Amino acid sequence: MKTHHSRQKKIRSFCRKLLQWYSDHKRDLPWRKTGDPYRILVSEVMLQQTQVDRVIPKYQEFLRRFPSFTALTAASPREVILAWAGLGYNRRALNLHAAAQDVVKRFGGKLPSTREELLSLKGVGSYTVGAILAFAFHKDETALDTNIRRVIHRVFFGSEFPAWKKNDKELESLAKKLIPPGRGYDWNHALMDFGALQCTARRPLCETCPLKKICNAYPKILEDVKHGRVKTAYVEPGPASSPNIPNRIFRGRVVEALRVAPRHTLSFDTLAHQIKEDYTEDDEPWLANLLTTLEKEGFVCIKKAKEDILVSLV
Ligand code: ADE
Repeated sequence: MKTHHSRQKKIRSFCRKLLQWYSDHKRDLPWRKTGDPYRILVSEVMLQQTQVDRVIPKYQEFLRRFPSFTALTAASPREVILAWAGLGYNRRALNLHAAAQDVVKRFGGKLPSTREELLSLKGVGSYTVGAILAFAFHKDETALDTNIRRVIHRVFFGSEFPAWKKNDKELESLAKKLIPPGRGYDWNHALMDFGALQCTARRPLCETCPLKKICNAYPKILEDVKHGRVKTAYVEPGPASSPNIPNRIFRGRVVEALRVAPRHTLSFDTLAHQIKEDYTEDDEPWLANLLTTLEKEGFVCIKKAKEDILVSLV
């Protein structure tokens, strides 16, 4: 059992070493050059599920098209979905559009700075709120993403293999105590960069790590990752003939096919064969169901036209 004193000492050492590492290794990322809460929100929504390298050019392009909450609000959902091409998880485009409308209507065009108000915006969950509070409003809050959880877990509780020893709540409670007062902004960037560059999930660079002396996972973690004890991902059920492809992939393909189609419209049958090479009539109920869901979510419109069913981007 660690004494309170030795835990405090470890925390101080962790903070000092991590901030020193950050000052030597920090990434030069475009959303770190702005203080505009709108831009920071856009970057965080994009980064929720897309890798940094893919986000960088899309972030810049998106902001050229939609430079402010009002500009985004003036666009149609279709325009925003079109601009989201290449990022995946298109629901985020609609959520961001809805969040912008809310910010304009309810908050006079200014992104609010309290946890409760931010959480009321569509597509903004607890992680994104932490990131916005830290990066847009310089508050001492944590944005506990997978990378940050892993770093804290390893340093304080050991290897995450074969199972995590602490749950999210416990990690969050410790994470809050770690923030050096007044440094929430740099601190979260430092943890993110450290998790992305040094303490990665599959190839942690322990030998050059300034934290190895105080890290509870070192050196066991090196053996663990070598044995490839990685979790297998959950796969949603797909159509009868390709049960291993998750529906998420087909949803993305539908939106992509409509993005590039003339007038953003295709007949049901054309669409079916474009998104699924081996499409058969057995897949029809599955695809009809998937399209109805996309319609309810506000991505597509479905219209009957004589013999055909026409599917368009909203
Ligand atoms: N992932 C999520 N938010 C990020 C940020 N602001 N910088 C780098 N990676 C991130």
